[in-house]
Formats: sequence, C-alpha cells, structure tokens
Amino acid sequence: MWCPEGLDEIEAELLGPMEDLKDKDVLEIGAGAAQCSRWLAAQGARPVALDLSHRQLQHALRIGADTVRLVEADATALPFADGSFDLACSAYGALPFVAEPVTVLREVRRVLRPGGRFVFSVTHPVRWAFPDEPGPEGLSVASSYFDRTPYVEQDDDGNAVYVEHHRTVGDRVRDVVAGGFRLVDLVEPEWPAWNTQEWGGWSPLRGNLIPGTAIFVCERS
Ligand SMILES: C[S@@+](CC[C@H](N)C(=O)[O-])C[C@H]1O[C@@H](n2cnc3c(N)ncnc32)[C@H](O)[C@@H]1O
Repeated sequence: MWCPEGLDEIEAELLGPMEDLKDKDVLEIGAGAAQCSRWLAAQGARPVALDLSHRQLQHALRIGADTVRLVEADATALPFADGSFDLACSAYGALPFVAEPVTVLREVRRVLRPGGRFVFSVTHPVRWAFPDEPGPEGLSVASSYFDRTPYVEQDDDGNAVYVEHHRTVGDRVRDVVAGGFRLVDLVEPEWPAWNTQEWGGWSPLRGNLIPGTAIFVCERS
C-alpha cells in the first residue's frame, strides 16, 4: 500500500510488472514495521527493510518478518555496497523527515544497479498549506505553501521529538534530478469511492477535493 488513499502495488505496478518482482533484491527505506517488505517477500522478491527506529524494527520482528532482512540504519548513510539492489521503495519513509533529502536519493542511487527504480510516496506538498484536519477545517489555506520552515514537536525539555520537512513539488523534482535519477512519473492518487476511512488528516471529504499523496517514480540514470 503506497498511501492512505489505498493505492496498492498490485493495482499500480509502479515497481514494474508484478511477475518481474521474483528474485529481485529490493531495498525498503523507512520501512517501519516492514509491511511492504513482507508483501514483496510474498511475491518472491528478496527485500531488505531499513529503518532508523529500533522500536519499529521490533514491531517488524513481532509481526513476523522472518522472510525479510531487517537493518537498523540511517537512510542518509546506507550500509550497503554499491549496486546491491535492483529496486528501492519507500511508503512515507525517511524522506519527509530528513533536512536534505538529496543525500538519501544519492545514497539510494549508489546502492541501486543501473536502470533500477526507486519509487517513494510522501505527503502531497500542497497539503502543507492546509491544517492537518480531516474535516472542513482542513479545507482552508492556513499557511504558505512556500514556507519551508520545518514542523517540529518538542518534549518538555525542548528536545525535538518529531520533525517533518516541507518540500514543494518543484523542490522534490529538483531533488530527484540532483540525486541522479530520471523522473518517470508523478502519481497523485485520487480518493476511491470504496475508501470510507478517516486516518489522521486524510478523509473522503478532503481526498475528493485536494491530493493527499505524491508518489515519485524514479529511474537510476
Ligand atoms: C511514517 S513512517 C512510515 C513507515 C512505513 N513505511 C509504513 O508505510 O507504515 C516513517 C518511517 O521512517 C523512518 N525514518 C525516519 N527518518 C529516517 C531515516 N533518516 N532513516 C531511516 N528511517 C527513517 C521512521 O523511523 C519511520 O519508521
């Protein structure tokens, strides 16, 4: 699943035809509990699920990542040799949370084999300008789309406990190119009629009016 809209890889085939996943080495960035990697393993691929968070990887183990290799590391410094993977993917992992996403893109390019795809989903940049609310209050512009000041939550001691960085659509395209990729597609999934679920700031109400997710389909040049 790429996003709260519910677009799944069986339908989208953004990593290429499903039958070609068999025996592919796939790196998942910011894998969380490794849901995508488990699905990839079920298709016959050899996924590696990478995340910075020890706790997330514990969840991955608990849920049953026995078919997936788990790696605890920072996506800005990948602990793999050049050309180790055929494909890379990320569903909302790592990229929104680093100040310099080009570093991640360059690292992913380095560990991909020539022609390899990197497909990643992030919150659609236009959402930055709206309150993160699923109801009507989430439909009025409240801040500037062009303001790149990161969103930061702090604990009582003033330590940052959650940081999210905003990139405009243009910023993301430039990042992809600077990272050494060719942009093959930019998918903006529409809210499907069957999806009645609210999840955080995502809802049918908003989903029918403004995009929630941007999926960048990139090829290693
Ligand atoms: C929104 S969650 C998405 C998790 C999963 N991909 C999913 O679809 O449920 C973002 C994940 O990115 C991870 N992450 C954030 N910064 C990272 C970094 N620099 N390197 C690796 N993982 C990172 C977080 O620990 C978290 O598990």
